[in-house]
Amino acid sequence: MTLPGPYAIQRRHWLAACASAALLPASAHASLRTDITLRFSHVVAEETPKGLAANRFKVLVEQRSGGRIGVQVYPNAQLYGDHDEMQALQLGAVDLVAPSLSKFGRIGLPEFELFDLPFLFDDLAAVRRITLGPLGQKLLDGLQHQGLVGLGFFDNGFKQMSANRPLLEPRDFVDLRMRVQASKVIAAQMRALGARPVTLAFSETRRALAAGVVDGTENPVSNFWTQAMHQVQSDLSLTEHGYLGYAVVTNQRFWQSLARPDRALINQALQESLAFANQIADTQNDQALQALRLTGTTRIHVLSDTQRTRLRLVVKPVQQALAQRIGPSWTRALQEAMRQTSA
Ligand code: SIN
Repeated sequence: MTLPGPYAIQRRHWLAACASAALLPASAHASLRTDITLRFSHVVAEETPKGLAANRFKVLVEQRSGGRIGVQVYPNAQLYGDHDEMQALQLGAVDLVAPSLSKFGRIGLPEFELFDLPFLFDDLAAVRRITLGPLGQKLLDGLQHQGLVGLGFFDNGFKQMSANRPLLEPRDFVDLRMRVQASKVIAAQMRALGARPVTLAFSETRRALAAGVVDGTENPVSNFWTQAMHQVQSDLSLTEHGYLGYAVVTNQRFWQSLARPDRALINQALQESLAFANQIADTQNDQALQALRLTGTTRIHVLSDTQRTRLRLVVKPVQQALAQRIGPSWTRALQEAMRQTSA
């Protein structure tokens, strides 16, 4: 489903940028340049873990290069939304994107959807043991097949459920139209709960909630708060049922066109910015929850252990959906990584 909106404009930007990218031969980038501007496009607000990390990256790169390398950050899907940011990257119309891991299935890498399995991770440390281990590296390496380079992972945090009623028990979800990212695993999770998944771009979600096109959604609180979803959802249930994280990706051709010292400088600044995002992600979500409590617009529900266990049981078959989607070798690698994680 596509709502009328910023996509017509974004498409025009995209076509113009592609035309200029096509005119620029790869050899034009080959030596140390004085005029590099990295275009970093993302879909969330600046006051989120991703927005703050992107802004920190800009400051670090510009300082350390003495202003020789510039970074232009386009937040809030100003330039590209979920539907076209990856394509824009492949075409060289932007240089860096940081989509959520749930959005790689649509470019032929469904194995990234393993992060969408409900109740897979107990905490962010468990996530990090995957993202920083061999499985994380294997996932990033797979991006090569799409002409991309994966530079690293980082967290937002755990997702909560929202709607115009509390979502505490499986029966509360029945027949609700729930906005989901373009992940088959998240869609299967919503179906297992009895809801109807509706795939929508992030930038369209608040409007769709306000218009009643969908009834509810899931996201960490920092995204819920910075999109002002509290104005259109009366209840937020702290289910913590799934993880939302990101991978930073660049275009192989662009990356190789940079001089080696520039690549090192950019990569170092990026790794520090991702570590920073991981440090602040929890705080950002906690602060957003506090701000939300103060507005009083949205009732906040904490689930009991029994309620959480019921949700967990109902979504168990989603593991099967993932196994079918990503195949036995990825499933085995995930099981092995999870065993090591819990050892
Ligand atoms: C994001 O955090 O990048 C967006 C997540 C979503 O689409 O729900």
